[in-house]
Amino acid sequence: MSEGAVKKEEKPRKFQAIRGTRDLLPPETTLWNRVEQTAHEVFATFGFGEIRLPIFEPTELFARSIGLDTDVVGKEMYSFVDDATPRLARVAYTITEWPDPTRDGDQFSAYKGCVSGFVEELEAAMANGEAPRSTANKQSLQDVKERYETLSATSLENDQSRRLALDCIRAIYLAVRIAELGDYLTLRPEATASVCRAYIEHGMQQLPQPVKLYYMGPMFRRERPQKGRYRQFYQIGAEVLGGSDAPAIDAEVIEMVMTFFDRLELQGVQLDINSIGDRNCRPKYVELLRAELLKVKDKLGPDSQRRIETNPLRVLDSKLESEQAIIATLPHIADHLCEECAAHYAAVKHELEMRGVFFRENWRLVRGLDYYMRTTFEITAQGLGSQNAVCGGGRYDGLVELLGGPPTKGIGFAIGEDRLILSLQESGKEVASGERRVASKERKEVASGRLGVDVYVAWMGERAHATAIRAAKDLRKAGFSVELPPVEQKFGKALGQADKLGAKYALILGDNEVSEGLWTLKTLADGSQAKFTEPDLLEHLRRQKAL
Ligand code: HAM
Repeated sequence: MSEGAVKKEEKPRKFQAIRGTRDLLPPETTLWNRVEQTAHEVFATFGFGEIRLPIFEPTELFARSIGLDTDVVGKEMYSFVDDATPRLARVAYTITEWPDPTRDGDQFSAYKGCVSGFVEELEAAMANGEAPRSTANKQSLQDVKERYETLSATSLENDQSRRLALDCIRAIYLAVRIAELGDYLTLRPEATASVCRAYIEHGMQQLPQPVKLYYMGPMFRRERPQKGRYRQFYQIGAEVLGGSDAPAIDAEVIEMVMTFFDRLELQGVQLDINSIGDRNCRPKYVELLRAELLKVKDKLGPDSQRRIETNPLRVLDSKLESEQAIIATLPHIADHLCEECAAHYAAVKHELEMRGVFFRENWRLVRGLDYYMRTTFEITAQGLGSQNAVCGGGRYDGLVELLGGPPTKGIGFAIGEDRLILSLQESGKEVASGERRVASKERKEVASGRLGVDVYVAWMGERAHATAIRAAKDLRKAGFSVELPPVEQKFGKALGQADKLGAKYALILGDNEVSEGLWTLKTLADGSQAKFTEPDLLEHLRRQKAL
């Protein structure tokens, strides 16, 4: 092999962001920051405080609250075992993956040693609290111990003993598999469950009710990536917990999202609302729906056919063209709400009207998570294609109780921040505040994040260098964005660079400027130049910025 070929082989692997994840680059991140800042401001005016939550939680928290039959829990969670004792986990893995422990005498005795090691390690880990003292672990330990005792007395000498050994090996395999060697954790697919967990954990029911919290940050769902759908995506959400279930709370939460969207000038905003009843009336409606769906089962696609059994409400969510005519004939939940739910729904609509919030009733809006009851809502916006839901939410009284807390009312929403940003970009609303969508040819230049530079300091000479450093410090202190080249460069080159970075001004500092104490400021848009003393320059720039 030639030297060249060796080198080629050694070329380091190029890494790329994992499918469904992406880097958010400047200047787009300026828009993300503005959106988040607006959320902080608007939500504060409604009395919400920020909660920052962990990125991962026990898998069971999501399984219990979102529901086992949902797509999120059933198919989309990023879950892993956080091994409490990596050594124990390794021994367990070795035992369960051993190809053939009875292949020869050496393998057989090594295997026995490994099983005895497992017993010792698990016993010690349970004693010192590293592994949970759970029923599963107690069972596992007992079974492995018993089988190990029998196994120790076996040999490969005769068929009968070998058969007994194989029985033990099979039983040990099963017993080791049931051991809980660590915590089952999941990257959060949403944050409502976490907020409820935090509400209980911090005894927030003792605070004046309701407690109003908001959050923002990444969520993780293993969905098929496409425009507006990612595996790591960002939500801005809010929850109201405790107190009453007064319809005015539902309406105010919705009003808050709409105010936020209004402030961002989001275009084509459409609010859909529905009521999906409560534990009294919904089960009866679900049974009716199931019965009606069974009559037309053959005409439905495989997903809907499956959902007749698991969750008939979700059939109403179907986007399949061939199912639309059938779904249109199904009974509406609004006609099957109990008196209390119907009154609550009517009052929510009235409260929305009083707040001047426009809505459309959508009887098919059931939402994909199990914890909802009564009010559900979704907001769509312009320019998003098929993934056009920019916000989803609803009431979830009882969820806190389901997670071991006191009976507690709850309602909230989450905005898909990626989609919100996409929609703002599609409608050109980001341009108003100077945040441009970056065309791919521009990306290289702006990837450094230096778009939006106010002043480029072009300097030449040792004395000018010291002045340039001081000027940059003072300008930055005054709030201007300053680019100070680290090495001196000819003024022509420096001005070209300033232009490329989209700087508004170039401050030219050479020997003359320094000795005269008069600095040259060039306005790059029109090429005009003027000389200023240091204090006058600051004043001039301040005045220009205020214009
Ligand atoms: P959700 O409807 O599952 O509700 O998600 C809310 C929003 O997050 C969606 O409307 C969408 O904008 C965005 N979203 C969801 N999945 C993705 C994805 N894969 N890529 C990009 N954006 C996505 C919840 O999460 C509930 N926790 C909302 C809630 C809060 N209900 C009551 N309180």
